Amino acid sequence: MIVRGSVRVPGDKSITHRALLLASLAGGTSHLGGALTSLDARSCARVLRQLGTGISPLAPDRVITVTGRRRFQQPSEILNCGNSGTTARLLLGLLAAHPFAATLTGDPSLRRRPMRRVTVPLGLMGARFAERPGDGLPLTVRGGRLTGLRYEMPVSSAQIKSALLLAGVAGRVPVVLREPAGRSRDHTERMLRAFGYPVEEQDGWIAFAPGGRVEPFDLQVPGDLSSAAFLVGAASLAEGGALAILGVGLNPTRTGFLRVLARMGARVEVGAGHEAGGEPVGDLLVAPAELRGTTVAAEEIPGLIDEIPLLAVLASRAAGATTFHEVGELRVKESNRLELIAANLRAIGARAEADGNVVRVEGSDRRPAGRVRTDGDHRIAMAFAVLDTIPGARVQVDDLSCADVSFPRFAETLRGIGVVKRKTAFVKGSSR
Ligand code: S3P
Repeated sequence: MIVRGSVRVPGDKSITHRALLLASLAGGTSHLGGALTSLDARSCARVLRQLGTGISPLAPDRVITVTGRRRFQQPSEILNCGNSGTTARLLLGLLAAHPFAATLTGDPSLRRRPMRRVTVPLGLMGARFAERPGDGLPLTVRGGRLTGLRYEMPVSSAQIKSALLLAGVAGRVPVVLREPAGRSRDHTERMLRAFGYPVEEQDGWIAFAPGGRVEPFDLQVPGDLSSAAFLVGAASLAEGGALAILGVGLNPTRTGFLRVLARMGARVEVGAGHEAGGEPVGDLLVAPAELRGTTVAAEEIPGLIDEIPLLAVLASRAAGATTFHEVGELRVKESNRLELIAANLRAIGARAEADGNVVRVEGSDRRPAGRVRTDGDHRIAMAFAVLDTIPGARVQVDDLSCADVSFPRFAETLRGIGVVKRKTAFVKGSSR
């Protein structure tokens, strides 16, 4: 494939969720430009409407209006969060401060994902939960008056951190948190500071004080760097050309995969950016490159957690081996990504293994061919679809439609960046 032209990607998923949730707490109407309109964003909007928020239809290229009422009203039905872990966990934080019972559920993938990581600390703040045996959804939260929290999180996770900070906002109580190794995305902290809340970071601790107020706001959501990552990957594996990806979020807590790709020899230029809505935004220019293997250390993982499927498929085309350390969190994503990455790479003829919390991938220039099982996981589907752009590849993804969870029109966008896929294998240099 030869790549060409310039492309934009859908709005950032994390920022869209946070903007919808915070706008629901504002007493008035907020306007969101460039917001994500994928299945996950729709799930978030749907449950917020059930709680009394007015949200205009999530249509692409339209400004979305969100009319908040400061406090949620009790929902008359179960809140179905679909596939969206961000919706479920962050909403639990807000509901913890509301004096009524609400029941959350989700699709089979979300129902299996752990929720105790947020219900335990929210319980320490005073919320009550009725959970089924085991861990996961459905569960019922009964919120009320909260007390402040000082808490050391067992895992680095922006979802846990944000749930607790949002509980602090809605409950008007201080929250002090510590993340273990590695810093997760900080979009919530940035937004809260924009509303005047003191959020201070020192020696790995984050201290929030309830000194601000959420007011209606206008926000332009940047393109999602995690979606752009798949196009960066396809352009890196291409035979020629160059691809520009315009207007993507470049928050340093999200750019970890670009640093790893640079180590792997990828040619990604980050253009001069600007700031929008408290977040750095800019363009990427990607040219094909010969990749080499690398080692990804434990402390790097939180900053590239969503890009590991893509990095792993790129590692399968690199010279030498790549090792990802401490990636146990991948077991509790939309699928068991730890197992699926390794099993799918083997299914298409690559050498890969998951051993405890470590994933190892051996690079090769053999043509990838075989059937890939996604278990409905959007990022597994998109990562392996990227591998199918290699000349001569025959990678059959069992369900590419799940890409709609975060990247509407992914297949069309991927086709649109390239000029004809050659039929026969084209071996370029030694690494492919
Ligand atoms: C997200 C945080 C990450 C990430 C998810 C979105 C967020 O999850 O995988 O896609 O918006 O806060 P964890 O915080 O559980 O690692």
